[in-house]
Amino acid sequence: MSASSAAELTPNANQKIVQYLNDALAMENASEERLESRLHESIVEDTRIQLQNHLEETRNQKDRLKQIIASHGGEPTVTKAELPMLKPNTIDLVRSDLTSRSSSSSTASNSPSNAESTQSQANPSVKSIVKETDDVRLAPEKELIQTERDAIIEHAEVVKYKMLMEIAIKVGAMDAIPVIAQNLKEEEQMANWIIVNTPNLLRRIWAQIEVSAGARTVPEA
Ligand SMILES: [Fe+2]
Repeated sequence: MSASSAAELTPNANQKIVQYLNDALAMENASEERLESRLHESIVEDTRIQLQNHLEETRNQKDRLKQIIASHGGEPTVTKAELPMLKPNTIDLVRSDLTSRSSSSSTASNSPSNAESTQSQANPSVKSIVKETDDVRLAPEKELIQTERDAIIEHAEVVKYKMLMEIAIKVGAMDAIPVIAQNLKEEEQMANWIIVNTPNLLRRIWAQIEVSAGARTVPEA
């Protein structure tokens, strides 16, 4: 063991650094699960390649954290933290508004606005356009929203490791510092990649997103 390992810390300091290392591990446990699901659903190949790379990095980050937690006498957690997101997402609100208007027009007879429902019954293409929009045209928009959340999560991870670094320095857990530094560097690289790649992502999907704005006006006509 190095001169700065568990034996050199007070029991309280050691317990605290274990708790904070486990807090980072809980974040990575959740992050691994999210990366796996994003990898399956992403419609952009460059993104999938990057997500795959970062998934492997994340598994290595977890292993490094588990080792340092164990070397400080701690039990690595299997808890999954709740990952950050901005709520409400107003773009999703627009979408659910669209969906509810579509379904209310299909339950015609009890609706007070009979004229409107009769009109949409007479014109079944209204409903089918909405459905097509949901299934096809909104996929690029979902990708953009999820990419934005990817970036929020990766930046939150950067914050987590920067704070953890200061805590490790404060308690003198010098053996944890290279692990935290390595994880921090990888999170910064991933966070930067998402932002730098955004023009490339938009080049691929923005035209479809813009078309979906036009499609939303169709059910109102
Ligand atoms: Fe990450």
